[in-house]
Amino acid sequence: MNGLHILGTGRALPANIVTNDDLALRVETNDAWIVSRTGIRERRFATGETLTQLAVEAARAALERAGVSPQELGLCLTATVSPDCATPSPACLIHQKLHLPEDCPAFDLSAGCTGFLYAMETAAAMLPRMARPCALLVGGELLSRITDMDDRSTCILFGDGAGAAVVKSTEGAPWHALLGTRGNREALWAAGPGNHPAYLHMNGQEVFQFALKTVPELARSLLDKAGMDRDQIDWYVLHQANHRILEGVAKRMKVPLERFYENIGRYGNTSAATIPIALDEMAEQELLRPGQWIMCLGFGAGLTWGGAMFRW
Ligand code: UT7
Repeated sequence: MNGLHILGTGRALPANIVTNDDLALRVETNDAWIVSRTGIRERRFATGETLTQLAVEAARAALERAGVSPQELGLCLTATVSPDCATPSPACLIHQKLHLPEDCPAFDLSAGCTGFLYAMETAAAMLPRMARPCALLVGGELLSRITDMDDRSTCILFGDGAGAAVVKSTEGAPWHALLGTRGNREALWAAGPGNHPAYLHMNGQEVFQFALKTVPELARSLLDKAGMDRDQIDWYVLHQANHRILEGVAKRMKVPLERFYENIGRYGNTSAATIPIALDEMAEQELLRPGQWIMCLGFGAGLTWGGAMFRW
């Protein structure tokens, strides 16, 4: 059986930093409330950057770190809910900018904040049938373009950014993944492109409870599938949505919080981008070493959930 091996990662964030105090000038909120309820201190909101620009920047960094040329790619996937245009997909725009080979299919996945994990498992399944064994996976969002900046319950949470990974389908590489969806529109939804405004609407408490219940069960199922114990996992990379969700999941799983990577304070929730951005920061800080076990866990609009377990 083939599994995925991550060869390199990259990320790109807009330059504009928006602090909690900045948001408090617009809506009735304050730094203490946001930090205590979410752990978020600042986020990035694009001022001129497009999603395609961020995605291409993250992709170029990932290819460089992987030592893989665009011509070696057999698949290009983008996970997003906030594309620059309805069609062509960001994946096709990346394809154009990077001059990818014509027999390298490129398409988007819409699975909310779980999108990057859906992309990973899709690549794991498709790559053995593609012309070349490497894929470029990008999770990227410009959530500021679909966030109502007058709605204090959502504008404090979300941010913009992109993360990328170059993966290779490798014979015998350990790979365990689970994906699922509890079909639900009301908890978290946004109108499609062309609707003005196309803002995100969210029942925060419902999503919060969904995450706390679903993610520990998902982690348990993944460990059972692999025949492993929670202590054998070196790093848990959970979708960055809220510090209290990280804490709650760690507690329910009886895993020390220190084994969960966290950067929510700096970027807020960048949806499909949080996991690849986290992996890239961890690689840069040399927290990830060859042979370590990583478990990535996601949840989001859909309501989708997904997890992947692999060795670095
Ligand atoms: O990727 C998945 C995407 N979504 C999520 O992960 C969201 C998960 N949910 C959450 O993170 C939390 O539910 C929130 C951070 C969104 C909200 O925290 P909460 O502890 O669930 O607060 P709440 O919605 O129960 O609101 C408590 C109070 C309310 O006031 P009253 O009714 O008690 O008077 C809100 O109106 O806090 C008020 N409130 C705020 N106050 C200051 C809501 N937003 C704010 C705000 N500043 N920004």
